[in-house]
Amino acid sequence: MATERKVLIFENSYSLANYLLKKWQELAQEAVSDHNQFNVALSGGRTPTEFYCRLSALGSYGLWQKTHLFCGDERFVASDHKDNNFRMIKANLINYIHIPPENVHPIRTDVENAAVAAELFKDELVGHFAYQRKTLPASRQVLPTFDLILLGIGEDGHTASLFPGMAHTADASIVTLPVSLPQLKHDRISLSLAVINNARYVIFLIQGMQKADIVRKILEENLICPAAQVNPANGQLIFLLNKEAAKKLSHPMTYIPGEDVISIKKI
Ligand code: 6PG
Repeated sequence: MATERKVLIFENSYSLANYLLKKWQELAQEAVSDHNQFNVALSGGRTPTEFYCRLSALGSYGLWQKTHLFCGDERFVASDHKDNNFRMIKANLINYIHIPPENVHPIRTDVENAAVAAELFKDELVGHFAYQRKTLPASRQVLPTFDLILLGIGEDGHTASLFPGMAHTADASIVTLPVSLPQLKHDRISLSLAVINNARYVIFLIQGMQKADIVRKILEENLICPAAQVNPANGQLIFLLNKEAAKKLSHPMTYIPGEDVISIKKI
């Protein structure tokens, strides 16, 4: 079943972060009420840093005790390397919130190679989500079910570390995968498309003029690429765009007074 995609366009990154802060707390409350946990996979890259900073202001937010933070993908570099996603997430969020250390799940990169790291990441996910075996319909028992996955998008249509031309990304038996491509500075580890599409909510954060082309190609021209294959069969898919990233979409942007959102489009 094709997921209904919601596209929300914001005047600027501040109003986008306002919306996502409210959404985060709403989803956290919903998840904790349902299964006493809020399991989130965070995006890497530069776009989410402002949101992570804003979220860090919820330092003593009660639900951190039941929130589990994972990385959706990681570069296979040392944890203190400037390109390490978890390092960025710690610097902008984790260092400032009262979250139990056991609720923070970085992808280990202190092992032989990305394949070993991906295997350890898979083992941790399967172990953590084992509690769901009992509560989910059989069709959804195998794959971890995140309550929220935040994603970015590359100008080539990649998301997480799933890049155009990679094989097996949609294979439902794959939970995590190592990524080694000549065009990448570092090997990587990523959640699989199957796990991303098994989430309850998937939210893309996309900002900047440089993303306007890929946004139009995915939302209006049905380009085939990993980001366009994100389609959570049993979940909600939301694109949060600032005005620049939405610039080349062919629809009128009407400002809704009093709302953070300029325009909502159901595709
Ligand atoms: C990563 C991300 C990747 C990122 C996009 C967009 O590890 O880099 O997971 O998918 O979200 O490349 O990156 P920017 O936000 O820096 O444009």
